[in-house]
Amino acid sequence: MLRGRFITIEGGEGAGKSTNADFVVEFLKGRGLDAVATREPGGTPLAEEVRSILLARRDETVDPLTETLLIFAARAQHLAMVIEPSLHAGRWVVCERFTDSTFAYQAGGRGVDRALVEQLAELVHGDRWPDLTLYLDVPTAVASPRLAGRGLDRFEREDRAFFERVRAVYRERADAYDRIISIDASRELARVRQDIHAAVSRFMESS
Ligand code: TMP
Repeated sequence: MLRGRFITIEGGEGAGKSTNADFVVEFLKGRGLDAVATREPGGTPLAEEVRSILLARRDETVDPLTETLLIFAARAQHLAMVIEPSLHAGRWVVCERFTDSTFAYQAGGRGVDRALVEQLAELVHGDRWPDLTLYLDVPTAVASPRLAGRGLDRFEREDRAFFERVRAVYRERADAYDRIISIDASRELARVRQDIHAAVSRFMESS
């Protein structure tokens, strides 16, 4: 039976997720696979609207629970409209960020109870977890200059301690779950891509 695969690209700000997601999609297409690129929060018109709400800088403080619920609302829509239909049609879905981001940013960064994030994940996607996650690990000090020159959104404006907490949760999860492959993304792009190429090739052989 036709079976798609779900690959996610994770990492902090300025880790190179978009360019490396493109690289994975091109690599899969080169192997004759039907691959779709998408992202979170976002991936559908409605979910992209929620993304704009989440990223906008505003005077009103955003309650961490509100933020978490908005992220899962966008995720529910994305799963229903894009991820599940694509996987059922046998397509490979390459998604920038998924629930690992929510553990890193909302539980790690904002201090939302992890058990609550787990409950919401169970409610919204049950056991639909990525088959493979490429975690692009970059020390906070390396990532910050990569952001210079961009207009910073509500998350990018957080302080270094916030991103250290985000990174700590990512690294913890990378240690805990075999599906998460940690890649040192502080090196030059060609080296990073060698590792991504190797990880995706290994995954394709084993699945
Ligand atoms: P991006 O700019 O890397 O595409 O992501 C937008 C922001 O959304 C990023 O700063 C992290 C944040 N985010 C969360 O805080 N939790 C989540 O679950 C997701 C998917 C993104």
